[in-house]
Amino acid sequence: MGTRPVRPAHSAAEVLARLDDRLPDGPTDPVAVIDALVEAVDGGLTATGSPAFFGYVIGGTLPAALAADVLAVVWDQNAALASLSPAASAVESVAGRWVTQLLGLPSHVSVGFTTGTQMAHVTALAAARHRVLADAGWDVEADGLLGAPPVRVLAGADRHATVDAALRLLGLGRRAVVPVATDGLGRMRPDALRAALAGGAPPSHTHPGHAAGPGRAAAARPTIVITQVGEVNTGAADPLAEICALAHEHGGWVHVDGAFGLWAAVSGSPARRALVAGAAQADSWATDGHKWLNVPYDCGIALVADPAAHRGAMAAPAVYFPPDGAGQLDPVDWTPEFSRRARAFAVYAALRSLGRAGLRELVDRCCDLADHAAHRLAAVPGLSVLNATDGPAAPGGLVPLNQVLLRVDGPARRPGCARADIPSRGYPDPAVAGDRLTREVTAAVTAGGEAYLTGTTWRGQAAMRLSVSNWATTLADVDRAVDVIAAAVAARRAGGAGDAR
Ligand SMILES: Cc1ncc(COP(=O)(O)O)c(C=O)c1O
Repeated sequence: MGTRPVRPAHSAAEVLARLDDRLPDGPTDPVAVIDALVEAVDGGLTATGSPAFFGYVIGGTLPAALAADVLAVVWDQNAALASLSPAASAVESVAGRWVTQLLGLPSHVSVGFTTGTQMAHVTALAAARHRVLADAGWDVEADGLLGAPPVRVLAGADRHATVDAALRLLGLGRRAVVPVATDGLGRMRPDALRAALAGGAPPSHTHPGHAAGPGRAAAARPTIVITQVGEVNTGAADPLAEICALAHEHGGWVHVDGAFGLWAAVSGSPARRALVAGAAQADSWATDGHKWLNVPYDCGIALVADPAAHRGAMAAPAVYFPPDGAGQLDPVDWTPEFSRRARAFAVYAALRSLGRAGLRELVDRCCDLADHAAHRLAAVPGLSVLNATDGPAAPGGLVPLNQVLLRVDGPARRPGCARADIPSRGYPDPAVAGDRLTREVTAAVTAGGEAYLTGTTWRGQAAMRLSVSNWATTLADVDRAVDVIAAAVAARRAGGAGDAR
């Protein structure tokens, strides 16, 4: 995609300095406004749509999705009500149904189009909160949480930060979470979940128990289990079938964070599809359009198998809403927002332009490219692939999905010094040196402008991630990124690593 660097040329402070920040008293010609805006922000744009952007987990933009999203802006539809935008309502109905089918979820799920997975969590977990408290005889929408039976939340120790933020926003609080132990790839351990479900203090309240929802036993106490497919660093997936069965035995509601990983459901590889086996047994799911589906920002999707709980948690009927009459979807009932943009136009266009086969090809190509990168990078001296899988992967596959987690190794210790915890004089602590080298390589690759990587921390140590999520990324883009990474590793290891202590 062109020759401009993938990274921005200017920092936010530099863009701010170029931007005219004086609030104008009078009007300015619209063309002049746009010219000035483009000029001021140009160097502050990151080419996140570039096929050489491998940072975070960020998709590109499919041409049809881009055009549809531009139209959503041009048409300026408020998607809240079917009567206000029949078009937005109809397109959301179809796009929601298509996503449900592609992800292999039950046909009756209700769907809300949110800003991202963060708000999809808020939406779905509000439905979960509604149901588990209703089952305990508590109407949380009417009475709030003061005096409510405590809700316990069990979630993997490697859950995404947005889960905690959602629980905070819903008034459940971060401390409601019982962290469940995970394995080396960040997958929730079913034995640890079993123990956590069985353990803990019994509830002190005396609210009457109610029958649980479909598929769930009556709950001894309101319980939500949050699981994930597609750990942001490793791409690994929790064993969903086992987790759903265990949680449902205890009357728990299962929510799946599948921001990108849920799309493994469309893969042509049985091993990749195995990553999401059991997903349909959960009670709610959160995923993104703006990651692997390659629609423009912003687009998340909340799906809930209990539409009454979903609507009960979200609907905000106003006296001035006209009844649509034809029973069509009022999107306002399914997301936290009242007014909002017509996000589903882009989802509809993306899916229509790809079809099932195109989406399958997109997902598998990204995984194959990530795997190709992992194989090549594993052969680079001094570089380790931290998320080499021991579970299902495509035949010959090295990493579970589309993420490659890397670390630059620190130099070996002085021969004869067996104690890894004692830095020996003149020799660097390998862990500290590895952290430093890893951060330097990440920064050097991105600064070079040919590829964009982001750093992370994995098991307490610095790491860097290469995420292949863009429909336009080719083998040549990945090979170039691998070459750049290998060169940066070689350069850093050759010079100066010895001073790291
Ligand atoms: C597993 C997981 N959950 C949640 C999120 C948050 O998604 P969003 O940025 O769309 O809110 C991400 C983002 O990368 C993610 O990888």
